[in-house]
Amino acid sequence: MKEYKRYTVTTALPYANGPVHIGHLAGVYVPADIYVRYLRSIGTDVIFIGGSDEHGVPITLRAKKEGVNPQDIVDKYHSMIKQSFQNFGISFDIYSRTSNKLHHKVASEFFTKLYNDGKLTSFTDKQYYDEEAHQFLADRYITGTCPHCGNPNAYGDQCEKCGTSLSAKDLIDPKSTISGSAPVMKETKHWYLPLNEYEEWLKKWILEDHKEWKPNVYGQCKSWIDAGLQPRAVTRDLDWGVKVPLEEAKGKVLYVWFDAPIGYISATQELTPDWEKYWKSSDTRLIHFIGKDNIVFHCIIFPCMLKAEGSYILPDNVPAFEFLNLEGDKISTSRNWAVWLHEYLQDFPERQDVLRYVLTANAPETKDNDFTWKDFQTKNNSELLSIFGNFINRTLVLTKKYFDGKVPEKNELSSIDTATIDEIKLVPNKISSCLENFHFRDALAEMMNLARLGNKYLTETEPWKIYKTDAERVNTILNISLQICANLAIVCEPFLPFTSKKLFKMLNLQPLQWKNAGDENILSAGHQLGEIELLFEKIEDDVIEKQVNKLLETKKLNEAAKPIEVSKQKETIIFDDFVKMDIRTGKIIEAERVPKANKLLKLLVDTGIDRRIVVSGIAQYYKPEEIIGQEVCILVNLAPRSLKGIESQGMILMAENDKGELCFVAPTKQFHQGCEVK
Ligand code: MF3
Ligand code: ZN
Repeated sequence: MKEYKRYTVTTALPYANGPVHIGHLAGVYVPADIYVRYLRSIGTDVIFIGGSDEHGVPITLRAKKEGVNPQDIVDKYHSMIKQSFQNFGISFDIYSRTSNKLHHKVASEFFTKLYNDGKLTSFTDKQYYDEEAHQFLADRYITGTCPHCGNPNAYGDQCEKCGTSLSAKDLIDPKSTISGSAPVMKETKHWYLPLNEYEEWLKKWILEDHKEWKPNVYGQCKSWIDAGLQPRAVTRDLDWGVKVPLEEAKGKVLYVWFDAPIGYISATQELTPDWEKYWKSSDTRLIHFIGKDNIVFHCIIFPCMLKAEGSYILPDNVPAFEFLNLEGDKISTSRNWAVWLHEYLQDFPERQDVLRYVLTANAPETKDNDFTWKDFQTKNNSELLSIFGNFINRTLVLTKKYFDGKVPEKNELSSIDTATIDEIKLVPNKISSCLENFHFRDALAEMMNLARLGNKYLTETEPWKIYKTDAERVNTILNISLQICANLAIVCEPFLPFTSKKLFKMLNLQPLQWKNAGDENILSAGHQLGEIELLFEKIEDDVIEKQVNKLLETKKLNEAAKPIEVSKQKETIIFDDFVKMDIRTGKIIEAERVPKANKLLKLLVDTGIDRRIVVSGIAQYYKPEEIIGQEVCILVNLAPRSLKGIESQGMILMAENDKGELCFVAPTKQFHQGCEVK
């Protein structure tokens, strides 16, 4: 493998139009932070870049809806997001933003370079234009009827009802969401990156030279490349974004997906005057941490931009994650189906590491994964607390009790001691090789195995039982246990930075680097330990219940807000067809369950004409005793049918709502049985 001198690690820039939630952390920021903290611990020169993505149409729509400027929206969420990341220990070297001046300059110059070098094409095309608002309309700004399912409120880029992705030109009866008027087609010129010209190069660079990329990433790239690439517009008719630096492009900005990844470069420039070595030196390893919806932008489009520019390195790996669901449902900002980081910290102050732990253990590395509060509780109580916390606590409490908090001396080693020490020595490399291959869950499990080893060692050697009879032996046991604590403090740091810090303090040690781990002599005999604190606390059922109830409330609100689905009107019939049906008012006289049929009730109905048996599929909504005396409408001339061996003579009319629930349709006044319904 190639030797690298330094690393540039980037994380997808989140859109600054809402706060960040557990899905963001799990799929991008926690794994990236673990990776970077590990690299720093092994002494690597690394920069860790993040920032807010502050352009794009959704931000302008949101601003319009709230009656404020886009800048107000991004100011608010940028600082909120930045604060959340800081609170969770995401250790960026810089967290910047794309609305800042330097970024506009860098992105604009990037465009100019491509333009001057003839790397862009341009053509003029017709696009929707709002004549009242005097502006071109991005697809998102247009609504109309979906050509696939008839939904009258489909967006120009997507129908949220049937999920089809659309282009505004597909919509029937398009309307501008700005003025409400019908838009017209008008010519507009745009600039394109001719991705098609890079196809051969991409085939070699990705499909041959990067076979080691994660299968989900490689697979997506392959299917894009195999499908054939088209020129991609890099400009938009919009007034929010980086202005296109051309005289003839007044009123146009760079497409958000063109300027945003350049944000990684501009943030590095903001960070250090020495930025070029992190972006232009072939011995720098560039890694992009992203979610799976960003793969094409980071593996195909941005690399083509970098390639076209000519002076930059390309990403060496793009470890993209799948999605994290919440209690079985897709996380959704608009439906408020999320655990927001700022809210988590209000409810669980100082428990950042618990969430980091749970999200890493459940990281959606190879498939979508689920976060549940129950699992959160279990992982806290039965793993962090019972294994990690318990081991540390037992060791420190015993040392305090027997040795006044001073590290005792190792004496002669027994076979269990040497076996345990051998295990300790293996741990750092096991974790390293997982992390270097982006296997974060396995890496975390190896770290926990060290705590398990410690617990097992204490349980097997039982120093509290032999203290009175064999004090020398207890010296050795506690010395080794304390060395495990010190090892844990080092190797847990990438995953649980807050815990690591506390642990070093409890051990009265300055934080140590990775190279110090794997050693059974970190603490020397006689070293005075610090104060004992609790690392983790039990999370009780009622606390979890509260969180689950909060989500149930959200679910209820969402249900209530859901538009009611009404089935489509049936084919037209003529009056003669209708009058063939003989419908009468009737009354239920008797009702009983049909054995072995949980949907059916056997009814005796007075139709005014006669009393007859009708079998009706209403047992899930009505109990037999409830409906005796119920007035109904009944189709009396329906040919008899046999249901579960009972002959049913007619059909009771029922209304069915969008949830499939049934209710009777009956006269609204006291009418006698046998009246015709027509
Ligand atoms: N804002 C985008 C998203 O949330 C990610 C942008 S990543 C960058 O999907 F490369 F453009 F910065
Ligand atoms: Zn549709």
